[in-house]
Amino acid sequence: MHLPALSNSAAYQALQDHTIEAEHWQMRELFAKNPDRFSRFSLTAAGLFLDYSKNRVDQNTMQLLCELARERDVEQAREALFTGEKINTTEHRAALHTALRMPRSQALMVDGDDVGADVHHVLDRIKQFTDRVRSGEWLGYSGKPITDIVNIGIGGSDLGPKMVTLALRAYRHPRLRMHFVSNVDGHDLDAVLTSVNAETTLFIVASKTFTTMETMLNAQSARAWFLNTAAVDALARHFVAVSTNLEAIQSFGIDPDNMFPFWDWVGGRYSVWSAIGLSVTLAVGFEHFSAFLAGAHAMDLHFRSAPLERNMPVLFALIGFWNRNFLGCNSLSIAPYHQDLSCFPAYLRQLEMESNGKRVTLDGSPVGVATCPIVWGDCGTNGQHAYFQLLHQGTDVTPIDFIGCLQPSHKLPQHHAALLANCFAQSEAFMRGKTGAEVRAELQGQGLPDSDIEALVPHKVFPGNRPSNTILMDALTPAALGALIALYEHKTFVQGVLWGINSFDQWGVELGKALARTIQGELAGQSRPDDHDSSTNGLIAIAKAKATL
Ligand code: F6P
Repeated sequence: MHLPALSNSAAYQALQDHTIEAEHWQMRELFAKNPDRFSRFSLTAAGLFLDYSKNRVDQNTMQLLCELARERDVEQAREALFTGEKINTTEHRAALHTALRMPRSQALMVDGDDVGADVHHVLDRIKQFTDRVRSGEWLGYSGKPITDIVNIGIGGSDLGPKMVTLALRAYRHPRLRMHFVSNVDGHDLDAVLTSVNAETTLFIVASKTFTTMETMLNAQSARAWFLNTAAVDALARHFVAVSTNLEAIQSFGIDPDNMFPFWDWVGGRYSVWSAIGLSVTLAVGFEHFSAFLAGAHAMDLHFRSAPLERNMPVLFALIGFWNRNFLGCNSLSIAPYHQDLSCFPAYLRQLEMESNGKRVTLDGSPVGVATCPIVWGDCGTNGQHAYFQLLHQGTDVTPIDFIGCLQPSHKLPQHHAALLANCFAQSEAFMRGKTGAEVRAELQGQGLPDSDIEALVPHKVFPGNRPSNTILMDALTPAALGALIALYEHKTFVQGVLWGINSFDQWGVELGKALARTIQGELAGQSRPDDHDSSTNGLIAIAKAKATL
């Protein structure tokens, strides 16, 4: 069905009219007026609790946003996602990451294939292999069990496994040390190779395409280092691959028995649930990896069946859309209050920005409104002592997602109460702010002279009224983490549907890749290239004259 341009749609225009009123709201007053605000604007799903009450919304806003979601066919798009329609239209592919976490009993036929059966066949192989490595049955060339796993991959083939492996630190195998190499900068691989022993190291080359330049160069260098250090041809015991490209793996020299496949309907940034999660499974074991998948599946079930008004990913997406498109917020900060989620902001950066950093709709016409905000962040409380100053008193309003866990996985006294207190205090501070009258009263209480007080007041005022969400889980378990990632995946999907864009391609990464290939050739060649602009020509000339290439 052909939809009108987003900004011309009736629901979008109704929201624009509504914004004229909403822009003047103060959240303090919204809370004072409605004692039920917390329970009205919060919900639980798949073991996660979402509080979105500290946003500049009321019942009417949420209703208008849900009308927009209906008008933009979110429900139909959601069904197309789950049933394997080729919604990635520029690559003619389905986006079936949800099939990777379906239980064994569930079949899903796509193009005549039962993808559920294919997924579980690979999962069985992953179980067998990871059990052998973890138990010490799989031996390196000199007969010793594996102690170090090196995952070589980039983008989705790195960020997902790295983030999840760190997040599930409490579940890790005590013998296995995990390393992740992604950067083509040799310092990345060098740092790992100087810390491991070839006899007991297992390399996983993780690449959907098996053509990505950074991964291929790192894999070749790791193989050369291994063959040189081991001085025996024992690649089959030390190199495995995860990819959709069997041919390329064989020509690299990896035994096809050591290949764990996945499929073109798994996008890179949605691939941690596939064999790309091999390093995660090695670290935490198959049982915990299965619980991780089950947690995501629970969120899938909720997303697919709950009405829009009580649907966590839909509401989460609508809040983000409201902040971006009607309140003009151009960035989103992620603040996990759990050190083991320190890589989560970087993971979401790819998930949201590579998915929705687009400017044309599915039919190629300009979107006409702002799309994905800049996503960034760091762990609380570290961020508080670094950049929260700008979030509290800077000129831009940046919404924040606070993520907290009720139970820690450590036993250190006092830390957890201090952590949660900071998490809740920050969201309160962003909402409440501090008025001039409050600052004045406080300074008067300290006995400061009036002239000093008046000079200080503007500096100590917090405008407040700054939006945030808080997501809570009982503990950072594999299931809760699975649900959390699936929540953000579906949020990203819903926002992509609202904007009318393809959330599953990433053509924007191609131009730089092509130019890098040309410049790499020029750096290696004899001639002075002059086909670029004067800046690029000049930089290449300096490198050719002075750099070690
Ligand atoms: O260049 C971007 C990208 O294609 C990402 O989407 C992807 O996650 C990453 O590169 C790695 O790709 P591959 O797994 O094919 O090596």
